[in-house]
Amino acid sequence: MNEKSLEVCILAAGIGTRMNSSIPKVMQPLAGRPMLGHLINSVEALNPANIHIVIGPETDSVRQAFPSQKINWVTQTERLGTGHAVMQIMPHLNKDARLLILLGDAPLISSKTMQTLIDVNAHLTVLTSVLDDPRSYGRIVRDEGDSISAIVEDRDATEEQKKINEINTGVMAANANALSAWLPQLSVQNAQKELLLTDIISIANKESMLVKPVIAEDKMEISGVNTFGQLARLERMLQQRYARDLQDAGVNILDPQRFDKRGELLCGSDVFIDANNIFEGRVTLGDRVHIGANCHIIDSIIESDTVIKDYSHLQGCHVGPDSQIGPFARLRPGTFLRKKVTIGNFVEVKNTKIGENTKASHLTYLGDANIGEHVNIGAGSITCNYDGLKKYQTRIDDNVFVGSNTAFVAPIVIGAGSTIGAGSVLTKDVEPETLALSRAKQKTVTTWTRPKDKD
Ligand code: UD1
Ligand code: CA
Repeated sequence: MNEKSLEVCILAAGIGTRMNSSIPKVMQPLAGRPMLGHLINSVEALNPANIHIVIGPETDSVRQAFPSQKINWVTQTERLGTGHAVMQIMPHLNKDARLLILLGDAPLISSKTMQTLIDVNAHLTVLTSVLDDPRSYGRIVRDEGDSISAIVEDRDATEEQKKINEINTGVMAANANALSAWLPQLSVQNAQKELLLTDIISIANKESMLVKPVIAEDKMEISGVNTFGQLARLERMLQQRYARDLQDAGVNILDPQRFDKRGELLCGSDVFIDANNIFEGRVTLGDRVHIGANCHIIDSIIESDTVIKDYSHLQGCHVGPDSQIGPFARLRPGTFLRKKVTIGNFVEVKNTKIGENTKASHLTYLGDANIGEHVNIGAGSITCNYDGLKKYQTRIDDNVFVGSNTAFVAPIVIGAGSTIGAGSVLTKDVEPETLALSRAKQKTVTTWTRPKDKD
């Protein structure tokens, strides 16, 4: 173990030229969270004395995304290379510290791997990996022993060096005082005309310092992201790992290739997840919950034995046990369904409580409503909750039977046990146990003929 205190530096000032995006590269989402967020999480597990993050100018969005973290944000006003980026943090660094350097665009290095690197007893340690396709990465030039003599960037490499398939992951650990002696020796004599951090390896070698590699076995961990293609490949690798972890924990995921978790997914036993589902934020699925294909579920709780049928969209809702939702249902924030509730196709529910055994099976909008038990909402019924200015409540008490195509003009109360005739537009409260109708009487016109073509 190393006795020195640990400080961490994350380089995140790059503009992501290869993405042609106005969003800073480290803010591009991976599994629903900015790349930088993944890294900060892993770093925090090491409990370092300080976390320095180098960002570019005009990147307030990056700072604002991580407000509560104990981070020392350091601005690199001119982007003159990775070596130059590390120089920016040197005045903030305790010279006796051990410094772990990470790249913001290699987001999945685990805390375990970071710790392994820190613990190696050398002046400088470099995390490397052996890739089938080493293109675009810096190549590791080893000397006869097991130490590294140089890192050559892809653009500076000779044809011979390009064949080396051991690459620089970009993760390094060094003693701060040694680093402060190496950095001023960097020069811009390279293809990129930048101060390259990787050049400290040959500088350290000249000073007979020990430079040791640690080989990372896990290809996903070390993957760097420069293009949207690489981001998408990393996303898939990560999603397959999430799926496998859930499968190992006893969740029946039909196809791990078609599974997306962008947040936290907590599952009970005998949960089944069909293909092409997206889980976002914090989602909880109770025992025996069945999720059909192509659903998108965000920040929701679904209690046991409930079935969510294909193509349903749920956000910020609580679905009670034994319920049937969808296909093609939309449950919006503030939906609270108690138990054995049926929400069928093309039904939208928002900010609404629905009691036990109540059904809205087809083509309905229920917004800002409080609906009792054993209510049947006929097809095409709508709560008219909005007058263009304000929202109003609809209350439908227990055992109400609502005929098809009813409009509830809120605010309105529909008393328990009442029946509403189909096609009604209700503007007044309905007494319990009564029948309410508000529609024109059907007429029969015998003198009328349908227009006909002349010829
Ligand atoms: C870098 C390494 C390369 C390694 C690869 C791994 C160098 C010179 N090269 O190359 O050996 O194989 O990562 O993915 O280190 N950054 C700044 N300020 C700058 C320039 C970059 O903060 O002035 C940050 C970027 O935001 C990025 C990181 O440093 O997060 C790496 O920069 P990038 O330009 O992507 O380096 P690569 O060409 O990928
Ligand atoms: Ca990169």
